[in-house]
Amino acid sequence: MYGADISNTHPDSRWQNEPGSTKANRFRVGAVADVVGRTALVTGGTRGIGAAIAKALRDADYAVAATYHGNDEAAEGFEAATGIPVFKWDVADDEACAAGVAQIAATLGPVEILVNNAGITRDAMLHKLSSEQWRDVIETDLTACFNMCRAVIPGMRKVGYGRIVNVSSINGQKGQLGQTNYAAAKAGLLGFTKALALESAAKGITVNAIAPGYIATDMVAAVSQKILDGIVAQIPVGRLGRPDEVARAVLFLASDEAGFITGSTLTVNGGQYMT
Ligand SMILES: NC(=O)c1ccc[n+]([C@@H]2O[C@H](COP(=O)([O-])OP(=O)(O)OC[C@H]3O[C@@H](n4cnc5c(N)ncnc54)[C@H](OP(=O)(O)O)[C@@H]3O)[C@@H](O)[C@H]2O)c1
Repeated sequence: MYGADISNTHPDSRWQNEPGSTKANRFRVGAVADVVGRTALVTGGTRGIGAAIAKALRDADYAVAATYHGNDEAAEGFEAATGIPVFKWDVADDEACAAGVAQIAATLGPVEILVNNAGITRDAMLHKLSSEQWRDVIETDLTACFNMCRAVIPGMRKVGYGRIVNVSSINGQKGQLGQTNYAAAKAGLLGFTKALALESAAKGITVNAIAPGYIATDMVAAVSQKILDGIVAQIPVGRLGRPDEVARAVLFLASDEAGFITGSTLTVNGGQYMT
């Protein structure tokens, strides 16, 4: 939970006894060392796709922090089951993002991998869409990406290293009825990704997007079975995707080895929409 004492898990403690090992030079001492100690932050990392991403990063030896917004029960269960510390704030709140990133830096170390995954839907046809539904989705699914990147980019630029992965959506690529708000936010993420990638490339920071298709999570469970059957019929692979299948793609983009890939969008959609 946010503010919990997790100082014993500070990754630097694994380095302090290594001769000559400092925060500044630890990236040069070998393949495993390149990952051990890097801090990864996954927004919305306590459920669904984000939880799978957080676990995949933990299994790859990153020091992981997962954030969430309101579902304490799910977050506490996730933390107990995985040992991944969870932090609670609203990613749509810029001051909360800055404070949360500082809190994670103080407990786990400076954030070097940021996965902007938190997202919501508030679906309605445009003629029935309220200003509140529009604003909620734009702020949570798009402005939050600015808030979080703004909080981590100065530190990444300073150390000359960073990996940012923004979770967009197939519906930001192709549009979807009832989702003008969501499609606009998710398409906005793709432009944001390219612009920040250009700004950051010379600083050792890559910025990429993932565009999942329909993945079996709570978000998709909210869709009626009838509509879901229609959607699955449009997926060439013939099924919904799994959160771990998205997580593997994020893990790759987060790795040191993906340093020549930036500004790209990786689709993970079972062939439903080919770009
Ligand atoms: N599922 C799909 O088929 C699909 C397809 C394409 C793209 N995506 C995208 O993938 C991402 C994850 O989707 P999902 O299906 O895994 O969603 P999910 O199961 O509904 O989980 C959403 C996560 O985001 C957190 N969150 C929501 N609003 C937040 C806020 N304002 N501040 C901080 N955290 C917040 C939630 O926290 P709480 O638990 O506290 O609510 C939860 O941890 C989203 O960006 C979504 O748009 C999903």
